[in-house]
Amino acid sequence: MLPRVTTSLPVRPARTPEEVRAFYDAHRTVRRYVTREDGSPLPLPPEHLEAILHAAQRAPTDATAQLYSLIRLTHPEVRARAAELTNNAHIATASEALTVCLDVRRTGQILGATGNHVGHWPAVAVHFGIGDAVMAGQNLLTAAEMLGYQGCWIGGVLNGLGGLLDLLELPQGVLPFAALTIGTPAEQPPLRPRVPRPLVVHEDRYRDGTPEELREAVELMNPIAARRDHPGDWARLLRAYWAPGGSMEGREPHLVAALKRQGLWAGEE
Ligand SMILES: Cc1cc2nc3c(=O)[nH]c(=O)nc-3n(C[C@H](O)[C@H](O)[C@H](O)COP(=O)(O)O)c2cc1C
Repeated sequence: MLPRVTTSLPVRPARTPEEVRAFYDAHRTVRRYVTREDGSPLPLPPEHLEAILHAAQRAPTDATAQLYSLIRLTHPEVRARAAELTNNAHIATASEALTVCLDVRRTGQILGATGNHVGHWPAVAVHFGIGDAVMAGQNLLTAAEMLGYQGCWIGGVLNGLGGLLDLLELPQGVLPFAALTIGTPAEQPPLRPRVPRPLVVHEDRYRDGTPEELREAVELMNPIAARRDHPGDWARLLRAYWAPGGSMEGREPHLVAALKRQGLWAGEE
């Protein structure tokens, strides 16, 4: 016989589907923030900071380990250098700027402190470490959005990864996934499109989109690449990042070098 469940979950008022959609539709990546008059970051009220860090730590985690660390960037010089290394100036002006890192080091230290050894699992470290880091970071961002802020994930950490490892004194087993900025918006970007759902949500088995569906997706996504004096051309933007000679190819050797330096490389030497 199954034991009777005697505890009950705390009652939370359910949100309607419309409220859930409205919350997520209010999300915008924002890169300009309200600052103090001299342009320096406007700090978050302590209770807001506490709530968003709490949200980050409530993220689910693989195998109980919490394979991530958040490095808050607080000193103006550290902010300025991180902004420079990542090519993302808003790191210097956001109310809060954090580097969201994969961290398998702490787990190893806890194993050591309890008289255990650490196994060899560098590929698994990257797999679940990035997953944990993303879940904590995205929890933090949505909590900030609930409080009326907006933010920006910054994959630009890959532009200056070696420099960031030095700047933040990141030891072996710790690797930045991205930075995250939070603040009160000083710009109102439009709602940015997403590819049509049938290309993203598959049923029972993976299905490639047809050439027609892919062309339609590009049409729909074009506005995401629009700049003040240019109409959007999403394929061109994708090419700049992902095609031969694009920025991702430029980042690849630096990421491989950082994975090796941090003891997280699972491939051939
Ligand atoms: C992992 C990740 C890395 C990103 N890196 C950058 C970045 O380096 N600089 C930047 O300005 N925006 C960055 N973004 C923001 C994206 O450009 C933005 O999320 C995307 O254009 C969709 O816009 P939306 O968030 O307003 O819907 C990043 C987003 C993610 C999730």
